[in-house]
Amino acid sequence: MRIDIITVLPDLLESPFNHSILKRAKEKGLLEVNLVNLREFSSSKQKQVDDYQYGGGAGMVMMCEPISNCIEHLKKERSYDDIIYMTPDGDVMNQKMMNTFSLKKNIIILCGHYKGIDERIRQLYITKEISIGDYVLSGGELAAAIFVDAVGRLLPGVLSDETSALFDSFQDDLLSPPVYTRPETFKELKVPEVLLSGHEKKINEWRHEQAIERTRTRRPDLLDE
Ligand code: ADE
Repeated sequence: MRIDIITVLPDLLESPFNHSILKRAKEKGLLEVNLVNLREFSSSKQKQVDDYQYGGGAGMVMMCEPISNCIEHLKKERSYDDIIYMTPDGDVMNQKMMNTFSLKKNIIILCGHYKGIDERIRQLYITKEISIGDYVLSGGELAAAIFVDAVGRLLPGVLSDETSALFDSFQDDLLSPPVYTRPETFKELKVPEVLLSGHEKKINEWRHEQAIERTRTRRPDLLDE
């Protein structure tokens, strides 16, 4: 999978994809992340990418021209399955959405700033608008990093134990059950007996019950779905 991220702050995104699982995904050639500096597509001398909004009001708006130039440039090289705009008024990200995106080949992510982007870019180019939650960030970069992390780890061959993503929280609309490692007793708290039993069927049943209980108490909305 190839992800082109259009941003005015490429430096901010240099690090997140160069560690741990995503680093391995890139090294294995399963994930390619290309950072595109939007300013390079501005035709003005000052490399301007934002301007005052029509109708007045505080806050700048990201201009059509540099974004359009940038997207057209990328589209000349390859065709894209989706052009995503990270925005607090988009569809809220969830695991099902991430599963769907993990099957795509090429996507562009546009990171917004200031008051957002000119509406005409949304009309002309954007195929999906995504929010990471009901709060406002200072820009779309960190949201894009979260998206790439959530999708990248789902790509076949990325996780060393291929099945492990299948048991993540949310994959079956359930939160994950509690997990334990050594020692058996810590500050008088013991690991549940069943996990020491070696009885696979009982362990799976216990984990499933715990997952349901945890979901019922913490996220009953998931069970309603
Ligand atoms: N940009 C600013 N806030 C955001 C959010 N909550 N999700 C995605 N992109 C954003």
